[in-house]
Formats: sequence, C-alpha cells, structure tokens
Amino acid sequence: MPAPSQGVDLIERRIPKSGEAIPAVGLGTWQVFDVAGNTAELAQARETLRVFAERGGRVVDSSPMYGSSEAVTGQLAAELGLKGKLFLATKVWTSGRQAGIQQMEDSMRKLGVERLDLMQVHNLVDAATHLATLAEWKAAGRFRYLGITHYNAGGHDDLERIIARQDIDVVQVNYSIAEPEAARRLLRAAAERRTAVIVNRPFAEGAMFRRVKGQALPEWAAELGCASWAQYFLKWILAEPAVTCVIPGTRNPSHVADNLGAATGPLPDEAMRRKMSAYYTSL
Ligand SMILES: NC(=O)c1ccc[n+]([C@@H]2O[C@H](COP(=O)([O-])OP(=O)(O)OC[C@H]3O[C@@H](n4cnc5c(N)ncnc54)[C@H](OP(=O)(O)O)[C@@H]3O)[C@@H](O)[C@H]2O)c1
Repeated sequence: MPAPSQGVDLIERRIPKSGEAIPAVGLGTWQVFDVAGNTAELAQARETLRVFAERGGRVVDSSPMYGSSEAVTGQLAAELGLKGKLFLATKVWTSGRQAGIQQMEDSMRKLGVERLDLMQVHNLVDAATHLATLAEWKAAGRFRYLGITHYNAGGHDDLERIIARQDIDVVQVNYSIAEPEAARRLLRAAAERRTAVIVNRPFAEGAMFRRVKGQALPEWAAELGCASWAQYFLKWILAEPAVTCVIPGTRNPSHVADNLGAATGPLPDEAMRRKMSAYYTSL
C-alpha cells in the first residue's frame, strides 16, 4: 500500500514570478473528470477530489477540451466546500478572439469562479490571438496567471520561442522518464525566464504503468521513500528544480493519495535519477 500522506506537509514550489508557493503535486482531469451524467463515476471523482484536498492538494487542471470536466470540477468543489481553496487552472482551446472570449467566460462559469488562478492556451491553438486577450484579462484581474501548454516534444520549440519573447507565467509540458525531451532545452529556458513549469502526462498517459506491470520496485527505491511505481515516476520529475508542479490524472481516491505521497520525503539526486531512468528503461 502506498504511504499515506495525510497530516504530512507536502513539498511546495514557488511560482517564480510571484513567489507564491503551491503544492508540487496537483491533479489532472482529462478523461477522468468527464463524468457528468454517470452517477457512479461522479461519486468516484467526488471522493478523489475530497481525498486530494484533505491531504493538502490544491492545483487542479482542466480544459474545455475535456468534455464535462470543468463543470464537474466546479460542481464538486462547491459540494465539498472547496470554493476558494483550490488553485484552478483551465485553458482556451479554439480559434479567434471572440470565440476565445466566449469559451473563457463559459469555463469560468462552469468552474464557479469570478477570478481564475491560471488560464492557459491549450496546445498553442491560435496562441498569438489568445495571449493578447489573456494579458488584458490578467491586467483586469480576471486571471492571476497566464500560460501556454503542449503535450509532446514536437511542441517544445514553439513553447520555448514564446516564453523567450513574452511574459508568460506558466509553461505546461509533458515530462517524464519515458518522455524526457523537455530537459534538453525547454526546462532550462523556463528557469532562465522565471517561468513556472507544470508537468503533464507524468505517466505517459498511463503507459508507464503498463511497462512495469508485475515488476517489483528495485530495493534501492526505498531510500527515496518510494512506496509505489507512481511515486518513483513522480519523484524523478520533482527532482528537476525547474518543475513547479506535476499534475497526474486520476479518478481513483487511493491513486490520488499515492500521487500526493510523492511530494513527501527525499527526492533523488542526479546520480539517482540516472539510475532510476536506466532501471525503468531496462524493463
Ligand atoms: N496539452 C495539454 O494541455 C495537456 C495534454 C495532456 C495532459 N494534460 C493534463 O495533464 C494531466 C495528466 O496527463 P494524463 O492524464 O494525460 O496522463 P498521466 O497523468 O500521465 O496518466 C494518467 C493515467 O495514469 C493512471 N494513474 C494515475 N495515478 C496512478 C497511480 N497512482 N497508480 C496507478 N495508475 C495511476 C490513471 O488511471 P486511474 O484513473 O486508474 O488512476 C490514468 O490512466 C491531464 O489529466 C490533463 O489535466 C494537458
């Protein structure tokens, strides 16, 4: 069983441009919170969000691309008395200024917020248009932070170009033992530009669990306090100092507790990270 993280302070990281500290493990909602209309799955999502918040989790990431997940997040946050306690992030994912404005208004209504913590341009869709609107809305106080996202290495150069030229608070990108390409340049560029990094796809959308299925953790993983493969994968990510927060997706309450457990105890040094990568790759 994964080590419980209840009652234990989570590792926090600061958003470089503000100095605000946030817990280093958050929650992704792609697919897993797209459950409006399914009573059993909605109950799982509610319990997952409850356990997440009870154990100190705050950052929740959504998108209008994720079906009902924004509305479900807003509904459950209200039901659980979490309004104002979470750090809510969503995205704009459409083309054209007016369509973007409409979509962002809808998202904030669904999430039940007047002021959103973080609005991101999803997969850089019509990024120049939306970044202009995002800057206006941030200046007007409707968002606290603005950002850009992508989900594969093919988007990293564009992310890097944008953070080099514009004032971007957060870059959200894929990064994991299985998909380590962001370490080539993008993470360093983000650190230099004081841009926070949110890591998506930390388990390569679950593929990493399929690879280690039936395999025990190596004995030396205990030195890091890893009680599960999820913690092994997440601690590897969190050991990179440019990373501000990692957002594994789940609708399973014990998985969310397991994931938060990665934000406790020691993190690997560089030598250990290399050993962890080599071991995973050998399986
Ligand atoms: N372009 C973008 O902006 C973009 C792209 C991709 C993702 N994202 C964001 O990043 C989040 C994370 O990425 P992702 O959801 O694609 O993939 P992921 O987090 O790498 O993997 C999710 C999968 O891992 C499983 N899982 C989670 N915790 C586990 C645990 N402790 N033990 C065993 N299995 C576990 C989940 O299944 P269970 O439900 O069974 O736990 C799910 O199948 C998304 O939800 C989304 O918010 C953004």
